[in-house]
Amino acid sequence: LKNIAVLTSGGDAPGMNACIRAVIRTGIYHGKNMFGVMQGYQGLIDNNIIPMDARSVSNILHMGGTILKTARCLAFKEEAGMELAFKNLQEKEIDGLVVIGGDGTFTGAKRFGEKYNINVIGVPGTIDNDLSGSDFTLGYDTAINTVIEAIDKIRDTADSHDRLFFIEVMGRDSGCIALRTAVASGAEAVLLPERETSLKELITKLKAGASTKKSSSIVIVSEGNKYGGAYDIAKSVKRKFTHYDTKVTILGHLQRGGSPSGFDRILGSRLGYAAVNALIAGESMQMVGLYGNAIKLTSLEDALNTHNYKLESDLLEMTHVLSI
Ligand code: F6P
Repeated sequence: LKNIAVLTSGGDAPGMNACIRAVIRTGIYHGKNMFGVMQGYQGLIDNNIIPMDARSVSNILHMGGTILKTARCLAFKEEAGMELAFKNLQEKEIDGLVVIGGDGTFTGAKRFGEKYNINVIGVPGTIDNDLSGSDFTLGYDTAINTVIEAIDKIRDTADSHDRLFFIEVMGRDSGCIALRTAVASGAEAVLLPERETSLKELITKLKAGASTKKSSSIVIVSEGNKYGGAYDIAKSVKRKFTHYDTKVTILGHLQRGGSPSGFDRILGSRLGYAAVNALIAGESMQMVGLYGNAIKLTSLEDALNTHNYKLESDLLEMTHVLSI
């Protein structure tokens, strides 16, 4: 293994820069030639692959986003796109690839690695925390902290006006952000894609709060839940429960930005370091993850098996109890 490239793909996540820095510097430390691919798989296809040295990743550890930029690349799903990407890697004699991203990124990496026999290691980088084999994905902790800060502010105004707020958070099909932020912000209820909470149950809970003199209530709505967006849910609840003045906030993409938390800086550094060491040790088609505070390799296939990943369901029951 002589030449190693790194790319970020899919939704950006805080901590990706810390990880890029670790990948580049660990590779250089071991005498490898290092490359950065711009705009994820699109950069592989466009041959937008640039040599990187130790100084090209200076002062990025604390920055959100990704200096390599990112994209959701449809062309890489086609044979022609993958073929071109392979040709460009071959031309530069790049024999190792570190991909930082989420499930879409890993699906692409798996197909590419299997077809062209490229050494690929994945790093779980997504705020959604929806991969198996890592307790935490890169960016999840920062996103949680960003959401908590926003909800704290909403709580102030909700309480001053005696209002009920429905706050929609990201996570695509994963309720991880919603569940953790519900605990940390003292939300009255949370709607998740993984667990069904009927609107009837939700209204019963809100009524119970109102009858025991709760002045405000916060319901966290995970974007993938089955009842639709926060506006639709607020409307349905309002039809049957009129005690509070009701408002909606959709937090949107602010959840993806910002300086990474200490946790994500350390996680990005550990995973980037581990990814290059895994490549050097001859590993391929694996994801490096943090499992019980140790680095663990999981096959890309298992990482993508979302049936294995565990929502912390004890937190759901706890949210219910602690918000009476
Ligand atoms: O995967 C990260 C994520 O932020 C999801 O939580 C969300 O559903 C999606 O990306 C939004 O994607 P985009 O930024 O492409 O609109």
